Amino acid sequence: MKREWDGAAYDKLSDPQYGWGLKVLQKLQALPLRGDEHILDAGCGTGRVTADLLQAFPHCRVTAVDASANMVEEAGKRLSAFGPRVSVAQVDLLELPNESSLDIIFSTAVFHWIQDHDRLFQVLYRSLRQGGTLLAQCGGGPNLERFRARTAEVMRRAEFASYFKNWDRLWEYPGPEVTAERLKAAGFAEIKAALEPAPTVLPDEETFRRFVATVILHPHLKRLPAELHGDFLLPLAEHAAKDTPAFLLDYCRLNIYARKPRYDDLTQQKLPVGRRSDSVHANPLQRSEPVRRLQGLKSDAFNYQLPLRGEYPFTKIS
Ligand SMILES: C[S@@+](CC[C@H](N)C(=O)[O-])C[C@H]1O[C@@H](n2cnc3c(N)ncnc32)[C@H](O)[C@@H]1O
Repeated sequence: MKREWDGAAYDKLSDPQYGWGLKVLQKLQALPLRGDEHILDAGCGTGRVTADLLQAFPHCRVTAVDASANMVEEAGKRLSAFGPRVSVAQVDLLELPNESSLDIIFSTAVFHWIQDHDRLFQVLYRSLRQGGTLLAQCGGGPNLERFRARTAEVMRRAEFASYFKNWDRLWEYPGPEVTAERLKAAGFAEIKAALEPAPTVLPDEETFRRFVATVILHPHLKRLPAELHGDFLLPLAEHAAKDTPAFLLDYCRLNIYARKPRYDDLTQQKLPVGRRSDSVHANPLQRSEPVRRLQGLKSDAFNYQLPLRGEYPFTKIS
């Protein structure tokens, strides 16, 4: 139950996550790929970003997995139009088969829901082919620090405290340095990790309540009887209404890039450039669609403040 999401509600409310996902997809399109890779969308949710991934890479095979049955159901409906090029399955990322068969692991807005990143990166590393790429974004560093502090204060209130006995830490928000160390320990190379502030303004109190209930605090609300949900969300909405700007969520994303070394890399016997099988450049025609999609997102639905710059500064760790 802890893993379940309201897939239908998430699908309607997830414009911020969708927008961030499209930006990561643009980064994937900028990489030198062959164009026929096997890509894993790790934690596909309802498949909104996955659909763009499939459109952007029309000759790639995509496996879309998620731990939540409701999310997988929504994703299955959306992605069935792509036929046998895509398979959708309910899978816990920590239980991915150890097959070394994936060329690319793509993941957006997922890793912070998994506490054990050491194990996560080990599993992802094992499921990649040699030379395979991990490109991901999740919450990191000070992500939602203000909102989390306010939520913790409400959880401690007399009317709610008894419901949160034995409450486990829910999210993992590491910074880039810790993440780079973990990736390195798992065996990855060419590691880049960097934080990217992504403050997000929701349009009104009703949307704010629905958004935080569906996208952030559903594990909290599951602990409470339904008649207390409104009381729990009320002080958070009241705080947010007084902020400047009102209903701003202090999101911060952690961007991750890493590669599984090739045997050649490990033995220092690199093939000359031009003879490497990954030296084919991306088709520039593949680049335009997600940009249009991103620009087409209605700003009156969610005024998320994402500058559409080409590159943001990555902290190069190793
Ligand atoms: C915020 S949603 C992001 C979904 C999608 N990637 C997007 O950008 O809209 C987080 C997703 O991570 C999934 N998730 C969390 N922990 C997971 C795990 N251990 N294995 C697989 N999926 C997981 C959740 O079920 C949920 O669908």
